[in-house]
Amino acid sequence: MADKKIIAVLGSTGSQGGGLVRAIVADPAGGFAARAVTRDVSKDKAKALKSAGAEVVKADLDDVESLKKAFAGAHGVYAVTNFWEHFSGEKEKAQAKNVADAAKAAGVKHVIWSTLEDIRKFMKPDDKRMPMLQQKYRVPHFDAKAEANASFGGLPTTFLVTSFYWDNLYMFGLAPKKGEDGKLAWTFPMGTAKMAGIAAEDIGKIAYGIFKAGNQYVGKTVGVMGEALTIDEMGKTLTKVMGTGPIQYNAVEADVYRSFGFPGADEMGNMFQAYRDFAKEMLANRSVDTARKLNPALQSFEQFATKQKAAIKTAMGV
Ligand SMILES: NC(=O)c1ccc[n+]([C@@H]2O[C@H](COP(=O)([O-])OP(=O)(O)OC[C@H]3O[C@@H](n4cnc5c(N)ncnc54)[C@H](OP(=O)(O)O)[C@@H]3O)[C@@H](O)[C@H]2O)c1
Repeated sequence: MADKKIIAVLGSTGSQGGGLVRAIVADPAGGFAARAVTRDVSKDKAKALKSAGAEVVKADLDDVESLKKAFAGAHGVYAVTNFWEHFSGEKEKAQAKNVADAAKAAGVKHVIWSTLEDIRKFMKPDDKRMPMLQQKYRVPHFDAKAEANASFGGLPTTFLVTSFYWDNLYMFGLAPKKGEDGKLAWTFPMGTAKMAGIAAEDIGKIAYGIFKAGNQYVGKTVGVMGEALTIDEMGKTLTKVMGTGPIQYNAVEADVYRSFGFPGADEMGNMFQAYRDFAKEMLANRSVDTARKLNPALQSFEQFATKQKAAIKTAMGV
């Protein structure tokens, strides 16, 4: 391990960081070692990372001193914050600043910051199509990450612009479900726009590709996706892979989606509306080719659905 470059991975027990830790330990000859960071080293997911060959250390995004210790001696840091744990843009920015400050103090050579674009840049402040949330954001978990880019100034950083996880189908309750008529249906405010999506596990593999490329992506913004698809295209693939009947797509207005009342419905309504109304800009910010260059095993939606068939079928109740 001493001769390997250590990558301290935040969010290691989650989707993005977990994918990166697994990519590093799966390539023992690659010259990198994974240091998985978690608040709870005793949890099952942390133990699994340790068994797979990662070092596991404790730190908290809210505690800059703990991050400095976790980054000591590391070559790289994978930085991801979890908006969905607190739903606060301000907290996400404060956590990102803690990461950047700790990375500077530790003299880290390469940071990858998992970010998203600022949706406010696509609209005038008085645009009434979409409500402001938390007083000043259009899509807080996008806009706050984009604002946090500034914290990484002066650090050798790659800004990794990610995409909608297809895993949300089974992890976030977004899979089609049977209605009272027994027919499968799902509801999104996406119209006929194509949405940039990706298998979450591929993000970590892409991050590994960025670290392996040395300085090539330092100071650069890298936008990635697995495929861009309309909701109907996704539905057709699910029908084929799951072997079910057709899936009815209820294309509602974003205001209707925002009114559904589940936690984060306004945030999700704004996010899908941004993917719909600014599809051209969002797709221009992301590249399948770049994603595949960095991760040759990049999955299409059909490959993803086939791999996750059991979990998706359970989520669909079929
Ligand atoms: N879902 C999507 O479609 C999508 C798409 C693009 C971007 N994103 C973004 O992805 C981010 C979440 O990443 P993910 O999906 O990989 O996470 P995840 O699977 O939900 O897991 C959350 C991770 O964050 C860590 N974490 C949370 N709070 C922490 C804290 N205070 N200190 C240290 N670690 C902390 C957790 O570690 P421990 O609990 O082990 O400490 C865990 O590893 C969100 O900000 C979201 O906006 C999501």
